[in-house]
Amino acid sequence: MNLPNMKQARLRTDKKVEFLDANNIKSDKFKNKKYFIRTYGCQMNVHDSEEIKGILENLGFRETTSLEEADIIVLNTCAIRENAHDKVFGFLGRCKHLKKENPNLIICIGGCMPQEESVASLLKEKYPFVNIVFGTHNINDLGKMILEENKKQQIEVYSIEGNVYEHMDYVRDSKITAWVNIMYGCDKFCTYCIVPFTRGKQRSRKMEDILREVKDLKEKGYLEITLLGQNVNAYGKDLEEEYDFATLLENVAKIGIPRIRFVTSHPWDFTDEMINVIAEHKNIMPYIHLPLQSGSSKILKLMGRRYTKEEYITLYNKIKKRIPGVSITTDIIVGFPNETDEDFKETLDVVNTCKFDGAFTFIYSPREGTPASKIKDTIPMEVKENRLHELNELINSYSLKHNQEYIGKTEEVLVLGPSEKGENKVYGYTKTMKLVNIDDAKDDIGKLINVYITDAKSFSLDGKKEVFIKNN
Ligand code: SAH
Ligand code: SF4
Ligand code: F3S
Repeated sequence: MNLPNMKQARLRTDKKVEFLDANNIKSDKFKNKKYFIRTYGCQMNVHDSEEIKGILENLGFRETTSLEEADIIVLNTCAIRENAHDKVFGFLGRCKHLKKENPNLIICIGGCMPQEESVASLLKEKYPFVNIVFGTHNINDLGKMILEENKKQQIEVYSIEGNVYEHMDYVRDSKITAWVNIMYGCDKFCTYCIVPFTRGKQRSRKMEDILREVKDLKEKGYLEITLLGQNVNAYGKDLEEEYDFATLLENVAKIGIPRIRFVTSHPWDFTDEMINVIAEHKNIMPYIHLPLQSGSSKILKLMGRRYTKEEYITLYNKIKKRIPGVSITTDIIVGFPNETDEDFKETLDVVNTCKFDGAFTFIYSPREGTPASKIKDTIPMEVKENRLHELNELINSYSLKHNQEYIGKTEEVLVLGPSEKGENKVYGYTKTMKLVNIDDAKDDIGKLINVYITDAKSFSLDGKKEVFIKNN
């Protein structure tokens, strides 16, 4: 048993990252058995779950969406805000009940939550029915842990970053769009954020490995890839080679996959080279998620974000000017300790200046061990909730305005699957990442089609397939 030592993780080590091939253990021990996986959190976790599915399927398991049918349950957790924890512990209550009916059920918890020392201890003391606890650094060992499962709780969580693994047997959720990790971890240490602790220091993948994966996805017929990292513009800074994100992006674009996206960009270090590469390559989508977090330079400083309100707006305008039609979305936190009404008003002012296409908005949630959690927080929850509500109203009004500008236009849409909005509808995304529900295009799933936009709401567009009639 190896309980995490967060102090060690915070100090960081000089451990050299090794580039290794994944284990990919194969066995038929669990042939005909079923797995149920639930994923919380960000795109990294969604993609990690594709790796976990690969590990499970290599052991013989097949996926089920019915919890009652499962022989193994895997929860891939998130620790970004307190409510993420609450959801997982709530779900564990259900699992405990299922285990009473099926004592052979294997319950596993992985992801960011077990990387917190307090959570790992709690699982040990209060949740002995959880069989396997693993962290973000040793997903690659999950196969071995499952094969060794002997009804005793196994906790293996490492505080020191893992190696970079290649050639994982992913079971990808889609045959149309794919996630591609370009880096792991984060070195930014924004004062409110737990990610540098749960994911460790930044480790970039080698450029040739990323390009090989993208080429392979292209050959398999994927039409869209999203390059993943907590802070993609820092790509390569930890490698000996002279790599940067602009060079990587350009090389990925040259492979010729029709649509390339990337998340998340940090406003700090968003270089002119990056903007130029995005502007010059038609297959790099004109969509950028550029988290603002706060519109007050005072709060940004307390957050350790390394840019001011003015620098953010300058960058925003530069991107808008250089990449015509670009859509920009953001993340904003309200109620950070010491945020006054005046600071909050500055956030609203930046929203009014930038008129974002959309935003994910959050109430600040103190995370144990982060520097911000030590700042005395005197803002009542009611005030925070009112700020969030006011901000959301404003954000939604701009989203609606942007969406209405699409009415009457024809947009290229990548169709991904059946829509929840009606039997004859499918859904897909424009280049600018607008969700479109499309009538009568069932045969076009997995295709890029032109869609005539007929209506707009705050969070989606409606459209119909445009049929070209040749006159001669
Ligand atoms: N790496 C990305 C963000 C990852 S977390 C970036 O830097 O932009 C996604 C979002 O969650 C953050 O942008 C932030 O808005 C929010 N977030 C992170 N920690 C939080 C906390 N302690 N409380 C509330 N929101 C938080
Ligand atoms: Fe967290 Fe900041 Fe890193 Fe984003 S850049 S993951 S907010 S520490
Ligand atoms: Fe959550 Fe971990 Fe992602 S904390 S947001 S799943 S990196």
